[in-house]
Amino acid sequence: MTPTLVTSRTTLPPEGAELRLGRPGASSVTPILQIDNLHAYYGKSHVLHGVHFEVHAGEIVALLGRNGSGRSTTAKAIMGLVDCQGDIRWKGQQIAGHKAYEVAHLGIGYVPENRDIFPTLTVHQNLLLGQKGKGKNSRWSFEDMYAMFPRLKERQHTEAGVLSGGEQQMLTLCRTLMGDPDLIIIDEPTEGLAPKIVELVGQYLKSLKAKGISVLLIEQKLTIAMAISDRALVMGHGSIVFQGTPDSLRADAYTRKEWLEV
Ligand SMILES: Nc1ncnc2c1ncn2[C@@H]1O[C@H](COP(=O)(O)OP(=O)(O)OP(=O)(O)O)[C@@H](O)[C@H]1O
Ligand SMILES: [Mg+2]
Repeated sequence: MTPTLVTSRTTLPPEGAELRLGRPGASSVTPILQIDNLHAYYGKSHVLHGVHFEVHAGEIVALLGRNGSGRSTTAKAIMGLVDCQGDIRWKGQQIAGHKAYEVAHLGIGYVPENRDIFPTLTVHQNLLLGQKGKGKNSRWSFEDMYAMFPRLKERQHTEAGVLSGGEQQMLTLCRTLMGDPDLIIIDEPTEGLAPKIVELVGQYLKSLKAKGISVLLIEQKLTIAMAISDRALVMGHGSIVFQGTPDSLRADAYTRKEWLEV
C-alpha cells in the first residue's frame, strides 16, 4: 500500500500584500507559513532534502517522525539557525536566510528542545525577556500568563532554575507567547514530562488556537499530537513522507509502521 498524500496548494498573494492573518476572527485560505523544496546542511552533511508543507492561520500542525528524521532541523531552518536553501514564505514574504531575531520579530515564536530558560533569573524576569517592544499591543499580558498557569504566579519571584521540568516547559511557552507570535514552533514540549502534565500542555496548546495562533508541534508522542492537531506531517530521512489528517494517519498502517513505530 502506498502512503496517503494529502496536500493543498493555494495561490500566494503578491509580495508585500497586507494580510490580516493569525488574529481572532481572521480567516484565509492562504497559508501563513509555506515551505517548499527546503534543504538544510550541517557543514557538508545534507540533512533536509526538499521539505515542503504549509501551516494555515489558527491551525495546529503536528510534525512527527523518529529520532534524527530532521524535525528539529526544520524548525532551526525556519528560525534562521542552520544553513539552508529553498523557500520559506511567511505571510507571502520570503524569509529563508533571515536571522533568528528578524524571524522572531516577524511573528514566529520558537520554543526549542532544550527549554532554554535563564536559570538565575526569576520567573517574572524570564517572562519580561520574552516581550518585544515593551509588550505594547501584545495580545498577552503577565496576568494572562499567570491566569493560564497559576503555578507560575505562585513562583513568580523564584529563580527559574529550581522549577520542575513541567514548570520550566510552561515558562518557556509563556516567554515565547509574551513576544506575541502568530505562529509558535514548539519542539517536543512533552519530553520528560509526567502523563498528567503532558495532557495539560496539550490543552494549553489547543487553547492558543482559540486566540488565532497557529502551532507547529514537533512531537514523537503520537497520542498528544493526534488528540490536538488539525493535520499531521511525518518526516523520514529529511523529507516529508506523509501529510494528512490525524484520522488518515490512524488509518495508514503502512506509514505508522514504516516511519513512526520504534
Ligand atoms: N549540530 C549538528 N551537526 C551535525 N549533524 C546534526 C546536528 N544536529 C542534528 N544533526 C543530524 O541531522 C539529522 C536530523 O537531526 P534532527 O535534530 O533534525 O532530528 P529530529 O527529528 O529532531 O530528532 P531528535 O530530536 O530525536 O534528535 C540527524 O541525522 C542528526 O544526527
Ligand atoms: Mg529534535
